[in-house]
Amino acid sequence: MKTILTGDRPTGRLHLGHYFGSVENRVKLQNDYDTYILIADVQALTDNFNNPEKVRKSVYNLALDYLGCGIDPKQSHIYIQSLIPEVAELTVYFSNLVTVPRLYRNPTTKHELLQKKEVFGESGEGITYGFLGYPVSQAADIACVNSNLVPVGEDQLPHIEQTREILRKFNNIYGETFNIPEPVLSTSPRIKGLDGNEKMSKSLNNCIYLSDDADTITKKVMTAVTDPDKIRKDDPANPDKCMVYYYHKLIRNKDVDTVCEECKKGERGCVYCKKELARAIIEFLKPIQERRKYYEDRPEEVEKILKEGTLATKRKAEEVMKKVRKNMNLDYFE
Ligand code: TRP
Repeated sequence: MKTILTGDRPTGRLHLGHYFGSVENRVKLQNDYDTYILIADVQALTDNFNNPEKVRKSVYNLALDYLGCGIDPKQSHIYIQSLIPEVAELTVYFSNLVTVPRLYRNPTTKHELLQKKEVFGESGEGITYGFLGYPVSQAADIACVNSNLVPVGEDQLPHIEQTREILRKFNNIYGETFNIPEPVLSTSPRIKGLDGNEKMSKSLNNCIYLSDDADTITKKVMTAVTDPDKIRKDDPANPDKCMVYYYHKLIRNKDVDTVCEECKKGERGCVYCKKELARAIIEFLKPIQERRKYYEDRPEEVEKILKEGTLATKRKAEEVMKKVRKNMNLDYFE
């Protein structure tokens, strides 16, 4: 059976962008692959090193979000990155196989650096060794379970490319050790915000969280950007310029064709349309929230899931590291 590894940084709750961008895809794939889902707390510390409580709290929330979305602990190993020391060891070996200029060129790292001015300075001059190098540790996450596939959102593609380069280099120097993993994008890899922004993102403050309650969702949907040329309720409009229509499609509202037709003909007011969308999103999130609540009420069960997932990952990583140490001539006293 082929292996999948993917995960997220625990820095807050998951939103619809995460769901459609990658989590939904993982839920489908877990039936056919040996699936590892990592809660990347070590990586989260690279830009939150001064806020460990936030990371700690988010680990638990992320686990609840995963379970709510239907990641099935019987099929997938959900694990905590910091509890796998093999990842740290492999990161050190990999750090010889990537140049510092190459790390500086990674577009995702660059983008994040400039989003984090309060941590790394106005122009990123305060960049740390840990933050610059986190794609190396991400390569180690993937390699530690010798993953074949990595289902991710679009922003992660540069990291997977860097992983592939490192692993090819490793295989060349030390002999065939690792699979070269492929990224898997979902059908909707990047979700726009309700404000029309290209991305739904916490830092842009345009997210609908999977755990938002009905009132919050309705309030947020009311602010969505619509066709600016539509002034009166019965003006015909262009649904392709409207975030409300975009979201009707995204959550696969069964009446999406009616929405489109009525909007074009001027038979659908925006307020009405938004209320309908809010109801559809609330309905869509209901089973996710119910499952989330089930686990929220059973913290011992969640802890057990994380423990078992971490143990299974550790076993796999130990097996992979045996081969790594042997191939690198580090297998002393074996
Ligand atoms: N970089 C990912 C994020 O920001 C988290 C992550 C860490 C990851 N290691 C990974 C994703 C390995 C896929 C594979 O959410």
